[in-house]
Amino acid sequence: MCGIVGYIGKNQAQPILISCLARLEYRGYDSSGIAVAGDRIKVFKDSIRVNELAKVLPEIEATAGIGHTRWATHGEPSRINAHPHCDCTGDIAVVHNGVINNFQQLREQLIAEGHQLVSETDTEVLPHLIEKHYQGNLETAVEAALLEVKGSYAIVVLKKDEGKLVVARKDSPLIIGVGDRENFVASDVPAILDYTNRVIYLDDGDTAVITEDAIKVRHGGAEVTKQEQQVSWSVEDAQKGGYEHFMIKEIHEQPKVIRDTLGEYIALAEPIVDFKALSGEPLEDILFIACGTSYHAALVGKYLIEELVSIPARVELASEFNSYHLPLRGTGIVAITQSGETADTLNAMKRLKGAGKKVIVINNVVSSSASRLADQTINTMAGPEISVAATKSFTAQLMALYWLALSYSKVDISQLDNLVTALRQLPRKVQEILDNEAVIVECAKYLSKYENVFFIGRGLNFPVALEGALKLKEVAYIHAEGYSAGELKHGSFALLSADTPVIAIATPDRTYEAMLTSIKEVKARKSPVIALVEEDDVNIGELADMVITVPRIDAIFSPVVNSVALQLLAYYTAKHRGCPIDTPRNLAKSVTVE
Ligand code: F6R
Repeated sequence: MCGIVGYIGKNQAQPILISCLARLEYRGYDSSGIAVAGDRIKVFKDSIRVNELAKVLPEIEATAGIGHTRWATHGEPSRINAHPHCDCTGDIAVVHNGVINNFQQLREQLIAEGHQLVSETDTEVLPHLIEKHYQGNLETAVEAALLEVKGSYAIVVLKKDEGKLVVARKDSPLIIGVGDRENFVASDVPAILDYTNRVIYLDDGDTAVITEDAIKVRHGGAEVTKQEQQVSWSVEDAQKGGYEHFMIKEIHEQPKVIRDTLGEYIALAEPIVDFKALSGEPLEDILFIACGTSYHAALVGKYLIEELVSIPARVELASEFNSYHLPLRGTGIVAITQSGETADTLNAMKRLKGAGKKVIVINNVVSSSASRLADQTINTMAGPEISVAATKSFTAQLMALYWLALSYSKVDISQLDNLVTALRQLPRKVQEILDNEAVIVECAKYLSKYENVFFIGRGLNFPVALEGALKLKEVAYIHAEGYSAGELKHGSFALLSADTPVIAIATPDRTYEAMLTSIKEVKARKSPVIALVEEDDVNIGELADMVITVPRIDAIFSPVVNSVALQLLAYYTAKHRGCPIDTPRNLAKSVTVE
């Protein structure tokens, strides 16, 4: 939530800040702003998108500045609440991502001391606290101010005439991009890829002083040495590459993502995870923790573990985890998070770590907070996912879960060989769906007229129904419910009518006959049915109003092909409805608040 950037160096700051911010918009986009340091601090901000801000900015000569794109938490999107925020003198400007929990108390204290605060934000206390502590040294003032703050923050501070940026992080991501006589700060790597792929990852509690040609990182008041790392993501990874939206580009990248992610695991000399070596206890069951789309991947994971490993698995929403009992000895704990910055997931992981448990994370962003908190990371190789709706990262998570389940599998060796062979065929099968999207485009056109939709599936494809519904809600603004097909008759049948289409996932597996029955029951209530079936299906065509076919694949891998088809359905439905597909209203890519 919220993207922050900073620049200091040999070039003009303003165009660089704007281009970095544009690449961070997936983190929030209800307001944007920049501040640059000339003979005084100049701030431009409003409740507008970055491209609109760029149009109204005057040209300002300055080689240092900071920028922000906002996902509102405290106060509505407005010019006054947009970042950067300044102190009373207007000489100190701050951009912030995170939440200051004790801001109300700090605000009252600052007002009593004579400070004038004008916005409703929690962030505004920061420049005033820094002003209060400033005695000629900006970094000392920032460190003193942060001692008063409870909450999470990644901040960049700019002060008139100082010739430096001061940054700090706690529980919110922040990286430094290293250039040649120029340095960058950003919430996330894609922001700076146009300029550099040399990165320093900051840790919680770090502050850094950044000038044109030096980066000094401090921790606990003392200077520390940080290793620079080269990121493998390319500029092209973070660009649309000729596609109209990132979402469709990312859907189309999935054959490669499957190949890359599997390739990474197949090349491993060691088992993907050795639970016994990690915790010292034999593996008895698995606990998955995740949110949103990652939670749906975890639900597929539960099925895979129970089916292939024959041990119990449970899945908890990270946001609910505080209410649940801690797992017992012998439980392998796996958190799943694309960004590695989701506050709910991080909090659940911290609770488990606090109780002495070992935690594994399936994660897509190298050196994310989750990865640093975990005892072991299973990296997915989806590359940067820019569209707010998760697509390719979900598929990559499924690959990690297949490999995890297969590496502990109790099935016999010939069955295992067959499964691995089928797994290797997945990129080709997914490509077939992408190459034959015309039917899905037609179904999307049809669906786009409706306001309420059900997605139904059973067994392994029940989570796929949940994920299909989430994608449609998120990008097409259609109320959609994912349901276990068998559960629909226990109340929700009351909503079925000719105005409520049902998307039925009916690819062959042991629930196929039951799905046929469910589809008949739905048709009897006059709901139009769009059925997702395997090629050559002979039963469902005459029952369903429209049919989407997917290639034949071992049933256990059907969630992959079915999800890709439903991602396309959501994308094209949103397109027919004219929705802002990559940046849906009220959302942001990584949810760093509870
Ligand atoms: C939906 C979506 C969200 C995320 C959720 C968890 O398309 O992207 O539901 O899946 O916010 O995010 P991560 O996986 O980054 O923890």
